[in-house]
Amino acid sequence: MSDHSNRNSGSRIRPGDEGVLPPPPPDAEAHSREVRAHIARIIDEADGVIPFSRFMDLALYAPGLGYYSAGARKFGEAGDFITAPEMSSLFSFCLADQAAQVLDRLGGGDILELGAGSGAMAASVLDRLASSGCLPERYLILEVSAELRERQARTLEERVPDLADRVFWLDDFPEALRGVVLANEVLDALPVERFRIRGGAVRRLGVARKGEGFSWREMPHDRDLSERVRAIEEELGRKLPEGYESEVSTAMPALVERIAGCLRRGAALLVDYGLPRREYYMPDRGRGTLMCHYRHRAHEDPFLHPGIQDITAWVDFTAVAETAVQAGCSLLGYTTQAHFLLGAGIDRHVAHVNPEDTLSQLKLAQEVKLLTLPGEMGERFKVIGFARGDDIGMSGFGFRDLRMRL
Ligand SMILES: C[S@@+](CC[C@H](N)C(=O)[O-])C[C@H]1O[C@@H](n2cnc3c(N)ncnc32)[C@H](O)[C@@H]1O
Repeated sequence: MSDHSNRNSGSRIRPGDEGVLPPPPPDAEAHSREVRAHIARIIDEADGVIPFSRFMDLALYAPGLGYYSAGARKFGEAGDFITAPEMSSLFSFCLADQAAQVLDRLGGGDILELGAGSGAMAASVLDRLASSGCLPERYLILEVSAELRERQARTLEERVPDLADRVFWLDDFPEALRGVVLANEVLDALPVERFRIRGGAVRRLGVARKGEGFSWREMPHDRDLSERVRAIEEELGRKLPEGYESEVSTAMPALVERIAGCLRRGAALLVDYGLPRREYYMPDRGRGTLMCHYRHRAHEDPFLHPGIQDITAWVDFTAVAETAVQAGCSLLGYTTQAHFLLGAGIDRHVAHVNPEDTLSQLKLAQEVKLLTLPGEMGERFKVIGFARGDDIGMSGFGFRDLRMRL
């Protein structure tokens, strides 16, 4: 295991054992109290219960308060989790090479990165594309968090000062993009609906107040949600068992639709942890995929430290593919992160290191392991690509395309 948890591993705390998490320092605790009070007011205004998706949205994105909108450290050693671009530039170099294949085919274009976090990936992608002589005309970033936009600008100024003037932050999707869309671990950070099967019916799970905190409460029947879950069961060819709990996302397909909608010509490459639908709703995954991260520990209680912990859910990659295809794009491929990085030539980056520089070689070999081993990020993380334009392809999907599993 790595020292730091990626957002799908980490030391996992069993339900009921959350007391073993490190206690938040007083300022973080005070911030979380403020977030709790804000959400409590909204619950009161909504007559005592709000959908879980609303709770997750507020806990992560309430302006100035939510986990991603306020100043929490989040990424890296001093934060709560580590992502692939934070762990190693090799990841971003591979994505850059894939983007270069598309830009080359298009004869130029832009890159649009969604949810750029600390800006680490933007800096490495630009760095790599500059050295391979394939810079995009502009590097656009669409980021919902004002605090993170500032952090991204600082990272780019520090790491690639000569290229920072190519970077522009957008408030919305461009009307028409010719180029490449990149997003790492953005889809899993979008709010989800949570449901439970009880008495044979689909119950929408909401959030109510309980003392100083919150608890789950079933909400009145929701036809849309029921129909969506029944459609999943129909596709699976079996009923979900009594007591089964899981999630469905409406925000995720809506975002994929926006991505596909803005692509005039080019491709999108989305990396995240998740599964094809058949595997996502397996009977033994009856507590769902919701996961929280706090100081490199993973646990399942979204009500524990609202505003100072991450909340995330796995991605239904079948839904991603369906949405993109319905929007008129063609699927480039779907595979594991390990197979994608191998197809994208991650080994070439290691081979370029001076053979006498043993320390650098060891460091890179360790990074390759973290990115590709099945017990690390290699298998749980998947890559999906889709394109508008028949002549567009990416070598990353050439190694092993698993689209037949979707
Ligand atoms: C888990 S972080 C990943 C950050 C970065 N991509 C990385 O890999 O380190 C999720 C990011 O997505 C952003 N985000 C969430 N919803 C978004 C949306 N609808 N559009 C754009 N960015 C969004 C968050 O603010 C945050 O920057």
